[in-house]
Amino acid sequence: MHWFIALALLALSLEGAKVVHVGDKFKDSGKCKACHSHIVKEWEGSWHAKSHYANDEYFQKTIDYVARKTSGKSLNTIKIECAACHNPRISVTSTSAEYEAIAALNLDQDTAATKALQSDLISEGINCVVCHNIDQIHDNLPDSKRGIHRVSWMKSGVMSGPYDDAKSPYHKTERRDFMDTNPDQLCFVCHANDTSEEGHRFTNMQSEFKSGGKQCVDCHMGPRKMGVAATLRDKNGQQNKRLIRSHSFIGAHTVTMWKDALKVEAKKGSRTLEVTLKNPQPHALPSGFGSREIVVEMQYLKGGKVINTETRSLTSRYLSKRGKPTIPHLAAKTVENLSIPANGSKTISFPLVNGADKVLLSVSYRLVNDEVREMLELKDPMWSKKMVIKKLNLSL
Ligand code: HEC
Ligand code: HEC
Ligand code: HEC
Ligand code: HEC
Ligand code: HEC
Repeated sequence: MHWFIALALLALSLEGAKVVHVGDKFKDSGKCKACHSHIVKEWEGSWHAKSHYANDEYFQKTIDYVARKTSGKSLNTIKIECAACHNPRISVTSTSAEYEAIAALNLDQDTAATKALQSDLISEGINCVVCHNIDQIHDNLPDSKRGIHRVSWMKSGVMSGPYDDAKSPYHKTERRDFMDTNPDQLCFVCHANDTSEEGHRFTNMQSEFKSGGKQCVDCHMGPRKMGVAATLRDKNGQQNKRLIRSHSFIGAHTVTMWKDALKVEAKKGSRTLEVTLKNPQPHALPSGFGSREIVVEMQYLKGGKVINTETRSLTSRYLSKRGKPTIPHLAAKTVENLSIPANGSKTISFPLVNGADKVLLSVSYRLVNDEVREMLELKDPMWSKKMVIKKLNLSL
């Protein structure tokens, strides 16, 4: 019998995705407010807090589209697949053929899968007990096992963190390297690669990454600064001063982050204008999720009047298995990837226009390119908003 239990445990540790129920005292960020209100507030403004189906239009419409276009998989099955990284505290991690049969007849209301998707355990998306309840990250697993499939959880009520001397009256604490000296390992649980329904790897942030000494948290949580981890006072009325980082996880959705994210130079040649975009960041831009876009626009002026315009789009485009343009999650193939590599550059040629005495160059970023925005019928103006990276004036 013992060898059987040992084998079962081994299988679990290799699989990773073992569900551990989160107790009511810890399941939502509201429970942490009494002592970590400053952190809860920062996190609430982040996109980690919006990663649930109900809170991100782009995510929601992508799931609906994938479910419509993928035969034999119900909407809930797709939601559960995506939950691996977007909602990792879900209590059901895969569905069976039996489930599909029941779901096809609309008889799945009382199943564990449907209940798991409706549970308030996942409504906050990537919340405190996603990151701080991780016990181990299994980097020995295949590269494609991500999110929930790559970690094992602590017992409910134990928080992993950067300190080895933290004491809390509310929960136990344990120090982990991935919260302190090696935080990239934590980010790469989800921000590493993603694969479409057709088995095509459409993004690979981890393999693109050229650290150069900086870690994800240095830029996306900011530097460590003096502050308090908990606002709770000790019996002398003192707060414990600590080095902390911001939990705002600012990124692509934040206009101010894009200002000067690339270095832009323009040079006049004999017949062309050469625009060079230099990327000083340790990952490609655009990167991460597919369908992001950098837009380079040139306005040609004569005596202050616009006489011509030229636009270039740096984005990725995908084809379905039928060879039609599609979204990343249904891609069989990437046909174009125009991102600017980490620590690299890209030069784009624009024509010189007869009569123009001046050009206005504008480089900006959009969260979703025209093609995918139209396919998914995204409504919120934020998806098409141009976030300015750099504007230049050039006299010819
Ligand atoms: C995406 C992962 C992630 C999420 C979500 C997250 N944290 Fe953290 N947290 C971290 C990392 C990484 C650190 C270590 C930062 C450092 O280097 O000091 C940290 C540090 C902390 C610390 C120690 C103080 C500090 O800044 O180092 C506390 C307390 C904490 N987090 C509480 C919370 C609470 C409460 C929530 C939910 C509102 C939360 N965290 C959500 C990743 C996360
Ligand atoms: C009653 C107050 C209280 C509540 C409620 C509370 N904590 Fe804490 N927490 C603390 C104190 C105190 C510390 C230690 C701070 C220090 O040592 O500077 C701490 C430390 C931490 C740390 C750092 C642990 C380490 O070893 O580095 C994390 C992470 C954390 N809390 C997460 C949470 C989360 C998530 C919640 C909500 C589910 C929560 N806490 C609720 C008081 C609380
Ligand atoms: C459990 C999986 C998971 C982990 C771990 C994780 N992230 Fe994320 N992260 C996501 C998902 C999913 C999104 C997209 C959410 C959305 O847009 O709805 C995201 C979004 C982001 C964004 C984009 C914000 C924006 O405005 O575009 C940044 C920056 C980010 N994460 C940084 C980090 C850093 C730094 C770490 C490591 C400390 C980390 N993440 C750990 C899953 C994760
Ligand atoms: C030296 C600073 C720096 C480091 C280190 C860094 N980033 Fe970034 N990252 C940026 C800047 C600047 C941008 C562009 C503006 C923005 O989105 O914040 C960006 C953009 C992103 C985006 C949006 C990309 C896009 O094109 O839509 C994601 C996701 C992201 N970073 C995640 C990460 C992860 C995960 C790591 C660690 C593996 C990391 N970053 C390390 C600076 C950095
Ligand atoms: C391997 C982990 C992982 C899985 C599985 C995953 N995602 Fe993501 N997803 C991420 C991360 C990390 C980000 C944020 C990266 C970025 O912004 O570049 C993200 C971002 C997105 C975004 C952009 C959201 C925004 O607000 O801009 C969409 C849409 C999305 N994912 C859809 C899906 C769908 C649909 C599925 C399931 C078919 C899925 N994802 C499965 C990790 C994952």
